[in-house]
Amino acid sequence: MNIVLIGFMGSGKTTIGMKLSEEKDMAFVDTDILIQRKLSLSVENIFNYYGQRFFRLVEKEVIVEISKLENCVISVGGGAFIDKRNIEILKGIGIVIFLNGRINTIMRNIRGDKRPLLKGENLSNIIEFYESRLPFYKKADLEICIDGLTPDKIVIEIMNNVKLLV
Ligand code: S3P
Repeated sequence: MNIVLIGFMGSGKTTIGMKLSEEKDMAFVDTDILIQRKLSLSVENIFNYYGQRFFRLVEKEVIVEISKLENCVISVGGGAFIDKRNIEILKGIGIVIFLNGRINTIMRNIRGDKRPLLKGENLSNIIEFYESRLPFYKKADLEICIDGLTPDKIVIEIMNNVKLLV
C-alpha cells in the first residue's frame, strides 16, 4: 500500500513525505522530481519553455508510471489531483491524504517561492486559486490540518490516522 500526499502548493507535501517515508521505512517518490528528471529541466523551466499544458501531459505520464509502485510515500504536485484519470489512479494505488491549512500557513510556506503558477499573483488570486482546487482535494481519503504543527507532529498525525484506516 502507498501513501499519497496531495494538497496546494506550500502545504509541505515534499517535506512531510520525506519524513514520513523515513519514519515508516518506505521509499519516497515525488512526481515533480520525476518530471524534472524525465526532461532534465526544472519545473520552472518546463513552464517557461513548454507551458503548463505540456507540463500536465508529462505529469499524467509520470502518474501512470508510478501506478506500479508499492509501499511508497508519494508526494504529488498541487495540480495533479484535479485531472479525473489522475484522481482515479492515485486513489487506486493507496491512501490519499490531503494536507490542508489556512491560507496564512500556506502563504508563509510559499514566501519568496519560485513556483511558476504563483509568480506575481496577489493574495486574493491565490485564495481564489486555492478555493477552486478545494473540491478536488476533498476527494482524498483523509484530510490532515497542518496549521500550527511542526513537520514531526504532522507526520505523527498522519501515522495515527493511517493506522485507523488500514
Ligand atoms: C503545481 C504545483 C507544483 C508543481 C507545479 C504546478 C500546481 O508542485 O507541480 O509548479 O499546479 O499546483 P507543488 O505542489 O509540490 O509545489
